[in-house]
Amino acid sequence: MTTSDRQAKPEKVEFYRHQLGEEEAQSWRKVIDTLFLTLGPQVAAFEKELGEFLVRGRADATPPHVVGTSCCSLSLVLALKALDVGPGDEVVTTPMTFASTTNAILHLGATPVFVDVEPTTGLIDPAAVRAALTPKTKGILPVHLYGQLADMRALEAIARPKGLFLLEDSAHGIEIERDGVRPGQLGDAVTFSFYATKNLTSGDGGAVATKHAHVADRLRRLRNHGVSKSASDRHGKAYQHWDLVELGYKANLTDLDAALLRPQLPKVLAKRAQREAIADRYEARLREAIGGKVDGHASPAGVPWLVERRGTSSHHLFTIQPPPAMRDEMLAKLGEAGIGTAVNYRAIHLLTYLQERYGFARGSFPIAEEIGDRTISLPMYPTLETAAQDRVVDAVATAFRALA
Ligand SMILES: Cc1ncc(COP(=O)(O)O)c(C=O)c1O
Repeated sequence: MTTSDRQAKPEKVEFYRHQLGEEEAQSWRKVIDTLFLTLGPQVAAFEKELGEFLVRGRADATPPHVVGTSCCSLSLVLALKALDVGPGDEVVTTPMTFASTTNAILHLGATPVFVDVEPTTGLIDPAAVRAALTPKTKGILPVHLYGQLADMRALEAIARPKGLFLLEDSAHGIEIERDGVRPGQLGDAVTFSFYATKNLTSGDGGAVATKHAHVADRLRRLRNHGVSKSASDRHGKAYQHWDLVELGYKANLTDLDAALLRPQLPKVLAKRAQREAIADRYEARLREAIGGKVDGHASPAGVPWLVERRGTSSHHLFTIQPPPAMRDEMLAKLGEAGIGTAVNYRAIHLLTYLQERYGFARGSFPIAEEIGDRTISLPMYPTLETAAQDRVVDAVATAFRALA
């Protein structure tokens, strides 16, 4: 490559860059010098610290029990099982989510009952949840999409009188709050993801938080095959037999993961603020660059260009919603301009497996479908520099003008 080629092609603006640095590397290296690489003291310390994080600043609140897992996908499976979900049960959930949410319900032999989402936020619509309840409904599984809390107060008002469980998929953040409510505060359990692109990451990893001690006990057993004691529980004592007491999974967090996660926890809120500043700037610059088209709910369903904010978001994902006819070409043009993008998500009920299994057709959940046809996630991470943000906005505006 010649010097002029290099100048002609600016560096790609990556969709995501992790924030792991020397502090995390040192914490990880220290574990290598110890006896336990998994389900040992680092996992226990992280679980305690995450529980404390969830009730930070609330002197009268009791931290939830936290169980570290291998990922959010299996956290959902374990949590549903610990909440006694099984064949014949219906779980009301959103089609605007990743495959894991639905797969977890299906893995337990239960039926996902999809309901549509709010047009301005993409979050599950409580009125639609209420309308979907049947005698077989066992619980409700909302997703805190992009890092905004679903309307947990409304969902709680629906669930409690009927004795339904509330399980929250909070893969998109631990640092979320809305109407004074945080993840896991009203729900029976909440699941988190520490996947490579998440705000808090160990490459892969997850956790479940629950206020119920009996659910936590069951989760600890289920993440470890269903056996009565882990190796570290037994360490240092005279040999004790372990027993297999139920059918479980191998789905625990490791001490190496926990060692990466622990130093990140105290930095989460500062990084959230940095993400928010980027989201604010993106929105202001997109309004300038694209003009009046950005505001106003042009679509019949009322889906706007920019997602409306609700409470304190983790700003895990920043999405724009151009008209459906433009979306895929805009993705291609952003790619050509060296901008990393993703689609979170195409409506899940229209993907092949679910469409074939349940016969869903277009029109089943029109708002989720429209968001799925429009959404584009733009680069978002605390170290995304101003010049890179501007390149992203300029590329969106250029693509918009070319396609309008
Ligand atoms: C909404 C949602 N739920 C669950 C998951 C699964 O997380 P994990 O990769 O930790 O299994 C994801 C992953 O991105 C997600 O976005």
